[in-house]
Amino acid sequence: MKKFYLTSPIYYVNANPHIGHAYTNIICDCLARFRRIKGENVFFLTGTDEHGEKIQKAANAEGVSIESFIDNKVDVFKRLWPKLNISYDFFIRTSWQQHCEVVSKVIEKLYEKGDIYKSKYSAFYCVGCETFWTSLQLVDTDKCPECRRQTEKIEEENYFFKLSKYQRWFKEHLEGNPEFIRPKIRYNEVKKFLDGHPLTDLCISRPKKRVSWGIDLPIDKNYVVYVWFDALINYISGIEYGIDSEKFNTFWPADIHFIGKDILRHHAIFWPIMLKALGLEIPGCIFAHGWWKIKEEKISKSKGNIVNPFDLIKQLSELLGIDEALSADAFRYFLMREIPVGADGNFSLEILIERINSDLANDLGNLVYRSINMVQKYNKGSVAASGGEMPSEFRKSILNLEKYYDDFMAAGRFSKALDDIFALIGIINKYIETTKPWNLKKEKKEKELLSFLYALCEGIRIISIYLYPIMPKTSFSIQKQLGVKDVSFSGEKLKWGSEGRFLIKKEKPLFPRVDVS
Ligand code: ME8
Repeated sequence: MKKFYLTSPIYYVNANPHIGHAYTNIICDCLARFRRIKGENVFFLTGTDEHGEKIQKAANAEGVSIESFIDNKVDVFKRLWPKLNISYDFFIRTSWQQHCEVVSKVIEKLYEKGDIYKSKYSAFYCVGCETFWTSLQLVDTDKCPECRRQTEKIEEENYFFKLSKYQRWFKEHLEGNPEFIRPKIRYNEVKKFLDGHPLTDLCISRPKKRVSWGIDLPIDKNYVVYVWFDALINYISGIEYGIDSEKFNTFWPADIHFIGKDILRHHAIFWPIMLKALGLEIPGCIFAHGWWKIKEEKISKSKGNIVNPFDLIKQLSELLGIDEALSADAFRYFLMREIPVGADGNFSLEILIERINSDLANDLGNLVYRSINMVQKYNKGSVAASGGEMPSEFRKSILNLEKYYDDFMAAGRFSKALDDIFALIGIINKYIETTKPWNLKKEKKEKELLSFLYALCEGIRIISIYLYPIMPKTSFSIQKQLGVKDVSFSGEKLKWGSEGRFLIKKEKPLFPRVDVS
């Protein structure tokens, strides 16, 4: 069985999650579900990044112990993912003993190899980004080029990892693997960065007198490990690297690391070089998506312009009068449809509701509701396959999906896949208008009416399979309402005529319109 290993970033626990974090995990989940229904052995890793100065400061500011502060925040992340129908396989915490041991082993190994050394260090540190900058990189004299906050000048003795030693190898790797960083714009960005800057070695320690909250540096107990060096290692410790584990042998290398474009450099440069130095295989792809913004400003904890996903799901569920699992699907739909993964997008409740009204209420919800009503009204709630072919009107749309859907989904082009699914939804809605089943009934054209009803149900069932990775609860609900015998989202069930009989179980509309007047 083919394996597929994908990861999200591990999120800092200095604050609660917002819809930007939700976005990355929803992208991962769509791909994980797609790969699973393709029959692959999928491992989807997510988790939390719990060390470093930023977290130490956040706990101090609340006047609580660091341990209870992080446990509390981790609990919020762990409650969020099921709310958004996220089907991860393992949740890693960097405070987990097994992870800390792997980090120590990695450092010992690289030190023995001569890839770590001690030296004097002077740079400008941004606590918010947990990142060092050189004076040349700063903006407005002393501000962080990433988040524009004030940096601190730091001069101290530290340990360094020899990034520079691997520069030539890395450039060759990049040149030979144009798909290693996606989308192309991010690949070009990293290439340009390398062309313009010889790599400087990476400072991987922090003196305990300044930062105490971290993993002890095994080669010098006066230091803790730099939080990014610790965090990146989660991608191997999360699948049990270093303990002769079947899991690691099965899943490494990662097929795709999904991240936001803010953390590209750490993933696309530091991480592959760390792996190379360790003698491990390099991941297939680093996929950096864009940012959700509000009024053109990136949603971020530091700017305070966040949208709380718990509140949003609750609000949608109340506005629509549907349960939260379905309102989470509506949110997932919006995020995946509105912008291609890789681009930036502007978020507002108004645009979200417009999408729900036009696509989910008018098109999808209406199609399911009226089809089920017609089966109920014209044939007492059941309809069997009559051996008829797929209506010719559906053919082009269904062929399109058969031809392109898998490629779109595999490439993370979810908005393209949804365009094609909604084209089919539009065609079936139109088919109802042109066939005019009410006339078939009046004219007692029994056979035509039955094949029409079957075609509707079969078309909707097929749509539910294509929708599954993006809207899992909705797909399930559609198949339940159709009375599909064995609910399934497998590709084999995409064949026209796979379902012999539908026994309708009518429920309220999936997505009612929200009145915005
Ligand atoms: O950087 N739009 O954690 P973090 C889209 N712990 N995605 C967004 C976003 C936005 N406005 N804001 C955040 C860290 N994200 C490190 C990662 S991994 C080894 C260590 C998402 O809590 C996006 O995925 O700051 C981004 O890369 C991530 O959250 C940053 O989360």
